[in-house]
Amino acid sequence: MESKHAPLPSFAEHAARLAKTHLRELVQDEARGERLRRRVGPILLDISRQKLDIAALDAVGGYIDGTGWKAARDAMFEGKHINTSEDRAVLHTALRGGASRHPAAPKDVQKDVADALDQMELLVNAVHEGKGASVGLIGGVTDIVNIGIGGSDLGPRLAVHALNQFHVKSIRSHFLTNVDGQAAYDLMNTLDPSRTLVILVSKSFNTQETLLNGGVFRNWILKANGGDEAKTSKHFIAVSSNVEAVNKWGASQVLPMWDYVGGRFSLWSAVGASIAFGIGMKGFRELLAGAAEADDHFRAAEWQDNLPVLLAIVEFWNRNILGRSSRAVVPYVDALGDLPSYLQQLEMESLGKHVHPDDGTEVTQSTVPVVWGSIGTNAQHAYFQALHQGTDTVPLEFIGLVKPAHPLRENQDVLTSNLLAQAAALSLGKTFEEALAEAKTGTDDERRALAAQRTFKGDRPSTVFMLDSLTPHSLGELIALYEHKVFMLGHLWGINAFDQWGVELGKVIAKQIYPSLANDKDAGDLSQFDGATRGLIKAIRDRR
Ligand code: F6P
Repeated sequence: MESKHAPLPSFAEHAARLAKTHLRELVQDEARGERLRRRVGPILLDISRQKLDIAALDAVGGYIDGTGWKAARDAMFEGKHINTSEDRAVLHTALRGGASRHPAAPKDVQKDVADALDQMELLVNAVHEGKGASVGLIGGVTDIVNIGIGGSDLGPRLAVHALNQFHVKSIRSHFLTNVDGQAAYDLMNTLDPSRTLVILVSKSFNTQETLLNGGVFRNWILKANGGDEAKTSKHFIAVSSNVEAVNKWGASQVLPMWDYVGGRFSLWSAVGASIAFGIGMKGFRELLAGAAEADDHFRAAEWQDNLPVLLAIVEFWNRNILGRSSRAVVPYVDALGDLPSYLQQLEMESLGKHVHPDDGTEVTQSTVPVVWGSIGTNAQHAYFQALHQGTDTVPLEFIGLVKPAHPLRENQDVLTSNLLAQAAALSLGKTFEEALAEAKTGTDDERRALAAQRTFKGDRPSTVFMLDSLTPHSLGELIALYEHKVFMLGHLWGINAFDQWGVELGKVIAKQIYPSLANDKDAGDLSQFDGATRGLIKAIRDRR
């Protein structure tokens, strides 16, 4: 089929000019720096170390402005069915709409969201006050286990760990995700079943890993309760949009999810119950308010000041104009250690698409880059060598804090100096001549060989986020900014950022393979599998 989608512009003139302009030169321009540092509340975004000059920025921004992005954005906020392949609205913004200056979601959605928050508040407060019995749960909870995977794990996990400082009660939080039995086994060995509350989170309530782990925990608690099912159910809260399946499963309390919220956008809903149990409902509502600040900003600011649009421009430039195939996210904040894996799902599950949804034709430009990364400074001592001198250029994203929650000032200043130094070193580099001047001994050839190895080409782009401090508000805002960047890229690339058909095929094949591994006596008919799969199944069975 002929595509009705025009290819994105190549901005060739700008690209050619910038190919000859080193970042060392670009960062000297103070006015450009002012323009490329933008703030929303407690978050400063600095994209001045990206390989864009003002002319290129204006060209891309002007192009985007003509694509109807504002109407597309408003359609999302208002609940139009923009997730066309599933015929669903995309209303994660409604989850924090209560804190927005201009809530835009349909009234019935606003009511459902407010009611669910109240319901969650009841449970959280009761458990915190040791009165779980009053809401059908156990009392004396010491440990909470969130069982879920993907969006039912990564967001809550990120926020619970990031906001450790704000935990209000001495209840420990755990996350059980993978179906690798070792994780469940090890966790059960450390916990007291009589004091363990489980939050079983699955939007679909059909996810193999989650249901299996939920069953393992139910059997463990059931055994401790001498087979008493009613007593056992008091240890379980389920969060799902599939009420029928949850009711069959038998949790004492059910908190709702809706199909207008995608899993990877769901931490703001009851999917984030473990966050609320950690930081209390007041803290949870502050997280929502931070996200609402980003929402209001995204809806009000022109592209020149709009952080999600600027982030999308940077990603577009690096991916589509400069051909960069990955981006490293490096928080200089230990508490944000889970951010890279959270963003992997948010960005790669959303934007890992290759066709236009309206006519099924292939996109003509690359879509999502690989997102990866880990905390600095540790990362500097692992893979930064390749980022500085490897043959590929990998754009980076640094995240730092102005004010940490601890009083160890020297640690913080050393940490932040390293962040600033890496961004500087990557962009400025060190010339051959500078390296040669430092090589004092040896013959001329030896000095030149050494200098070549000690040269840094530089010109390697990075973005810096500086958060005033890490709070529920700033975390909520940061995550929502990323969500809206994803929306903008989906819009720009003409793909559906809100479905995830690419995860289905493997799930189906896993279910077909399972009986051949589970049934020790009879592996069944292996001829249904390809030769490589058959060979591995046989090898595994032979070595058991
Ligand atoms: O397999 C991918 C996925 O569907 C994600 O989109 C989702 O976040 C995750 O699985 C978990 O799904 P659920 O919440 O339905 O268990």
